[in-house]
Amino acid sequence: MKKVKIGFIGSGNMAKAVMKGLASSKMKAALTIYAYDTQKAVLAEVKKKYKAIPASSNEALVKGCDVIFLAIKPQAAAEVLEPLKGMFGQGRLIISIMAGMSVKKIQTFTGKTPVVRVMPNTPALVGEGACGYCASKEVSKKQLQNAENILDTFNAVKFKFQESRIDMVTAISGSGPAYFFYFAEAVIEAAKEDGFDAAAAKKLIAQTMIGAGRMMLDSEDAPEILRQRVTSKGGTTQKAIEEMDSKDMKKIIKDAVKAARQRSKELGR
Ligand SMILES: NC(=O)c1ccc[n+]([C@@H]2O[C@H](COP(=O)([O-])OP(=O)(O)OC[C@H]3O[C@@H](n4cnc5c(N)ncnc54)[C@H](OP(=O)(O)O)[C@@H]3O)[C@@H](O)[C@H]2O)c1
Repeated sequence: MKKVKIGFIGSGNMAKAVMKGLASSKMKAALTIYAYDTQKAVLAEVKKKYKAIPASSNEALVKGCDVIFLAIKPQAAAEVLEPLKGMFGQGRLIISIMAGMSVKKIQTFTGKTPVVRVMPNTPALVGEGACGYCASKEVSKKQLQNAENILDTFNAVKFKFQESRIDMVTAISGSGPAYFFYFAEAVIEAAKEDGFDAAAAKKLIAQTMIGAGRMMLDSEDAPEILRQRVTSKGGTTQKAIEEMDSKDMKKIIKDAVKAARQRSKELGR
């Protein structure tokens, strides 16, 4: 059977997470990975780690591949895609992971090529990615199925949406890991101020986040119910929640999520 050729324009952090997923998946025997990046050291790294064949240029990569990942920074998109104008025929599928780059914008460079636009997140690096995606009307059923199989190699959770929802996905799960790191920073600082060992606090809170996330995924109950179960009357958790409520923490978090969504919208313009 003919192997599917998957090429990466840009082989930085997110591209590596995708390559890692592909290289360790059941699909690996049925595909060949190609990569291009302006950083030669990065190409050497992905060749060694994920058996990605370095292409001589973005042009050569597009010519030789069936599926093309756009994994460059959105600011670099015009400069990278302009010279490739007209090279993407109908048979090729583009999977873009660029934040804020609409299908319409991508197609101004590529023409009416099938595009699947994905908003991934960095936990993909450890095989725990969560993503939202949309597909342009040119994407065939078979191409969508292929794209979804690829997404499954680096995401534990994926949802298909209308493109208008991708800004909110960006605010929920794209930026989401940073919200939890921020929360962890505060917990670790409080522990340190109490003379507690920072390394132990880091592990305790990290595992607590994993455990809480696992409980949310496994349970039919809303997070509010799960929270209430940990909060006994007059206990320590109630005291902590009261302190958060007194500072309107929920509103702060809601405003932050809405600000991220708004910024994603602005970047897309
Ligand atoms: N990181 C996240 O949390 C996250 C989440 C969701 C989506 N994304 C999206 O994923 C994309 C990649 O992000 P990243 O964090 O992986 O960025 P990154 O690590 O900077 O990777 C981008 C790579 O592309 C290279 N590059 C620049 N110009 C190029 C060209 N003309 N041809 C080929 N390669 C070129 C860059 O090299 P130089 O360093 O020399 O410029 C860099 O190695 C972005 O569009 C971002 O919006 C990221």
